[in-house]
Amino acid sequence: MTIPFTVRPADRLPAAERERLLAAPAFGEVFSDHMISIEWDRQSGWHGAQLAPYGPLLLDPATQVFHYGQEVFEGLKAYRRPDGTVVTFRPFANAARLNRSCERMAMPPLPEETFVEALELLVATDRAWVPEQPGHSLYLRPFMIATQRSLGFYGPSDAYRFLVIACPAGAYFKAGAEPLTVWLSEDYTRAAPGGTGAAKCGGNYAGTLVAQAQARERGCDQVVWLDAAERRWVDELGTSNLFFVYGSRLVTPELSGTLLPGVTRDSVLALAAELGYTAEEGRISVADWRADAGSGRLTEVFSCGTSSMITPVGHVRSAHGDWTIGGGRPGPVTARLREELTGIQTGERPDPFGWVHKI
Ligand code: COI
Repeated sequence: MTIPFTVRPADRLPAAERERLLAAPAFGEVFSDHMISIEWDRQSGWHGAQLAPYGPLLLDPATQVFHYGQEVFEGLKAYRRPDGTVVTFRPFANAARLNRSCERMAMPPLPEETFVEALELLVATDRAWVPEQPGHSLYLRPFMIATQRSLGFYGPSDAYRFLVIACPAGAYFKAGAEPLTVWLSEDYTRAAPGGTGAAKCGGNYAGTLVAQAQARERGCDQVVWLDAAERRWVDELGTSNLFFVYGSRLVTPELSGTLLPGVTRDSVLALAAELGYTAEEGRISVADWRADAGSGRLTEVFSCGTSSMITPVGHVRSAHGDWTIGGGRPGPVTARLREELTGIQTGERPDPFGWVHKI
């Protein structure tokens, strides 16, 4: 251990009640028995690491995070394999991204090993919460908040807390792997050059809720974000990245600084190349998306993210008209990548990249 953890065991939920909750988990509604908490201040650095019973936090109303939003988070999953072992997927990639987000938000980095040890301790302790059902997992939510008690906005907080909580998760989208219908947001933008778009911070999500509500009103599952300068180039979806499939060539919007560098996005780029596809980062304009979907040159579009995995996108709605990709049906490249990536996570496929991390 890079840092000593104090263990305060929880009164565990009775097994029968836990099994009832695991049978049909919604996303992010119920939580496992324990949580991790580690403190930081300028004098002591990271200290006071605990595995403690899951429960409410007692914070002063003047705590900085409530007012100025200095907060970052991560998302990854623990999977129970058919042989009973429990694994996580690329936890060091999430640790590295957390620290990149921290840098942008003027927060202290957490040693990557401590991040992974915290996950290991929580998952090993609450192992019974990792669902057995195929397609289900234990979603892990590491996050860091500014805890200095002060309304003065003179600079970054003097104190922080890193926490990890865990919740059993089924399919993120109600329709499972059915194609999504997405809404092209032209009234709002998510991130501008020089802003916080590449950081995984709560404010990036809060600012998108009004557009997500517009999407829902129009019968859409997700918002498509365009670049803020020209409103011409596709950045990403509300909670995930996007891939465009032209036969055997895949293109995903390049990391311009305004979109989230997704771990699943990075995994799909590597996996697609391994499977013999051409996988590239580039720029996709809305005009080309529409024209290429119409001509059939664009064969599939899919979204990818930790919570939603790989999900086809079948229909686009916008103020200037609607269009369909690949007849609105799931395509073979999307299905193959979903199957291969799931297979690596569950152990049904080899892991040539060393992505799987045993607990
Ligand atoms: C994830 O996919 O892990 C995310 O953080 C998206 C979140 C809005 C559920």
